[in-house]
Amino acid sequence: MTVMKKNQIKTVKGFNEILPPESFRWRRVEDQFRNLLEGYGFAELRLALLEPTELFTRSIGGETDIVEKEMYTFLDRSERSLTLRPEGTASVVRAFNQYSLGKISEINKLYYVGPMFRYERPQKGRYRQFYQLGAEVFGEASFYQDAETLVMLAQFFRILEIDGVVLEINSLGCEACRPSFREQLKSFLIEREASLCADCRRRLRENPLRALDCKNPTCREAVVAAPQINESLCADCQEHFSSLCGLLDDVGLDYQINSRLVRGLDYYTRTTFEFLAGELGVQNAVAAGGRYDRLVEELGGKATPAFGFAIGFERLMMLAGDKLPLSSPVIALIPLAEEALRLLFPLYVQLNRQAKVATLGFQHKSLKSQLKKADRDGVGYALIVGPDEMAKGAAICRNMQTKEQTEIGFDSLEEALKKLYHQ
Ligand code: HAM
Repeated sequence: MTVMKKNQIKTVKGFNEILPPESFRWRRVEDQFRNLLEGYGFAELRLALLEPTELFTRSIGGETDIVEKEMYTFLDRSERSLTLRPEGTASVVRAFNQYSLGKISEINKLYYVGPMFRYERPQKGRYRQFYQLGAEVFGEASFYQDAETLVMLAQFFRILEIDGVVLEINSLGCEACRPSFREQLKSFLIEREASLCADCRRRLRENPLRALDCKNPTCREAVVAAPQINESLCADCQEHFSSLCGLLDDVGLDYQINSRLVRGLDYYTRTTFEFLAGELGVQNAVAAGGRYDRLVEELGGKATPAFGFAIGFERLMMLAGDKLPLSSPVIALIPLAEEALRLLFPLYVQLNRQAKVATLGFQHKSLKSQLKKADRDGVGYALIVGPDEMAKGAAICRNMQTKEQTEIGFDSLEEALKKLYHQ
């Protein structure tokens, strides 16, 4: 644990920061995410972190944990209510409408990477500032889109060599079939009102679905025999869901149907899903999302079907982190005298100009200490030049793994280094 001096300033509680060398791993995973999504035709959106509060109350829903208890909301200097975004979907929809993206292209596939803010109780895998890798597709109502996204996510986990992630899916129906299910569920819950937690009791009349996903043990118990939404789906929703399941079967993507999967945000219609990993403990959802065919219109745009997901970056790294190698400088240039430093500096500049990663210390540290640092940085080779090497006109090249050392004449340094970078 780091010891803080009294007058030092710390981050806000639960705000997660990523330091080296972990930040190298994050970059690699982020690059892999970008490559994968761009391969599937997605393009990046970089959006505002701060939004009018109304954007979230209208999209996520007034009777959800996020809006009721978890938003960082404040008045700015002109008394406008602003909120640090608790998730990305609402902002992407806001941008989709604001920039009329639907007019530019019939299908829009957009992704984002960045921090989200929720005032939750910090614990393992749960932070108040956390990061998401997310994506949203607009303009495609077909179940093929749902399947494509799920397959792509599963592929991402495979690329990162993450095993043991289970996909759960459900359908929440649409405006045609959900109202009658809500009524059924409401009557069922009213009979058991006394065993529900205060939140579920309060939300019971306006938003009974929340009880299905409440973590409170007495609520869980109370909803065991509750009506199941997938038994109330209209023919179109039923068809959409069974076609999706059929496609997932065709491509061999395993899934479990979980009829309690209602998600903590109100905008979903039809498909919802979560990728769960037991290894994560209590906060076991590594990615989640679904279809939200009404939200674009509800936020003032033209009716447009949409489907998306977000991956929790911290949770993803808990599953993938240690398996990923750090990206390290290939070569450490190690001078043992001022004249050696003078000789190596132009080489160092040249290597870095060619985007070949190298390090060079300016502080005249001992050989031992410079080699120790190179080891810590995970460097492949050390190029050592001391007074003896200056006199000889040849540097020592040390393979940091095998400890094998060879001599390279100064006049053939450039050629020799080229080979090392290509190994
Ligand atoms: P969500 O389920 O609220 O969905 O969050 C998605 C993922 O973000 C979670 O599965 C989890 O991995 C991660 N996450 C959520 N809260 C925290 C936290 N406090 N600390 C660390 N990680 C967290 C959404 O945000 C939707 N916008 C997903 C979506 C996109 N639906 C459609 N499009």
